[in-house]
Amino acid sequence: MDKFRLDHTCALITGGSRGIGFGIAQALAEAGANIVLAARQEDQLKQAQAQLAAPGRRVWIYSFDMSQVDAIADLYSRIVADTGGIDILVNNAGGTRRGPAETVSAADWNFVINLNLSAVFAMCRAFGQERIQSRRSGKIINIASLMSDTVRENNAPYAASKGGIRQLTKALAVDWAKYQINVNAIGPGYIRTDLTQPLWSDAKFDQWVTGRTPLGRWGNPEDMGYAAVFLAAPASDFITGQIFYVDGGFLSSF
Ligand SMILES: NC(=O)c1ccc[n+]([C@@H]2O[C@H](COP(=O)([O-])OP(=O)(O)OC[C@H]3O[C@@H](n4cnc5c(N)ncnc54)[C@H](OP(=O)(O)O)[C@@H]3O)[C@@H](O)[C@H]2O)c1
Repeated sequence: MDKFRLDHTCALITGGSRGIGFGIAQALAEAGANIVLAARQEDQLKQAQAQLAAPGRRVWIYSFDMSQVDAIADLYSRIVADTGGIDILVNNAGGTRRGPAETVSAADWNFVINLNLSAVFAMCRAFGQERIQSRRSGKIINIASLMSDTVRENNAPYAASKGGIRQLTKALAVDWAKYQINVNAIGPGYIRTDLTQPLWSDAKFDQWVTGRTPLGRWGNPEDMGYAAVFLAAPASDFITGQIFYVDGGFLSSF
């Protein structure tokens, strides 16, 4: 199963300090990758770094707010200088501002679009430029959502941003196929993390999710990690432009 190994590669995961991002970091590390984590809170980054530490594995951490889109190119150059280059980019950091569409403020709209879409493009562009210039292949994995394809009420900016991720993933896949840069996305179903804590701690919503999901449970960050290993590894070299839903069958069921 050598084609599923990531030895001698370096993977950058935004929002990798907890939740889905940390689950992905753990799996990529287990498959052999060195790891770079970027998130805001330094204490949580340090905790994640300690948990990932293992003989022969390097783990770098960067405290950075991904919504500072104009500073992303500089951050990326710093990371490349420190690590020697990133082979696998996982754009995972994200957030939402919920509310009925008619009450969404310009500030909330801009916050969500900036973090979930503009920052992802800025990271991809920095990665693509470096890979193209250094004539090296690469893998990008964007974190999409069920809302890349369908919607629930009171989440218009989030749905717009994640729908954008679906199209951005395809657009970059087409532009960069000639450079052997594969661009795919993982679309998580309902996953138990801090972000969804208000949802899974509500007994009624919890029941709705388990009932509505054909495989009958919430997903967990490890489920996303295994999918990420596949999309990061040589095993998926002929796959690009895909949104890979890891949702317990949610989108297939009416
Ligand atoms: N959980 C789900 O059911 C689900 C479903 C579909 C899609 N997703 C997507 O999956 C991704 C991760 O979600 P999650 O549930 O794992 O969230 P989470 O548990 O809240 O974790 C979010 C991670 O992103 C970091 N982060 C948040 N805002 C950031 C910012 N401005 N700059 C840098 N880092 C930031 C957080 O660290 P700091 O707070 O320290 O910055 C943390 O490491 C998001 O894109 C989300 O939309 C989640």
